[in-house]
Amino acid sequence: MTEETWIAVAPKSAVPEGEMLGVSAGGHQIALYNLDGEIYATDNICSHAFALLTDGYFDGDTVECPLHAGRFEIKTGKGMGPPIPCDIASFPVRVVGDDIQVQVTPKT
Ligand code: FES
Repeated sequence: MTEETWIAVAPKSAVPEGEMLGVSAGGHQIALYNLDGEIYATDNICSHAFALLTDGYFDGDTVECPLHAGRFEIKTGKGMGPPIPCDIASFPVRVVGDDIQVQVTPKT
């Protein structure tokens, strides 16, 4: 059985306020967002087709997919209507020193 683990993915300084960054951890592609100084993490791959959300647009507390303009809530991964068929995962985040750590279940 694979257990959830905290993985350091980037220094906090790499994600300034209002910016996002794509990283990988435990076999997941993850988008980090700095929303008003707080770091959030979701899947980086859109649930509609293959597009990286970090190639899209960070707008308020949502991210807009670059391919068909589907939107997700940054804090929860909740899809905000068509063409999005389902939510994306969001991941717990903590900052230790300058390290952003994300809690994931590594893919085997
Ligand atoms: S691939 Fe993201 S909205 Fe279509």
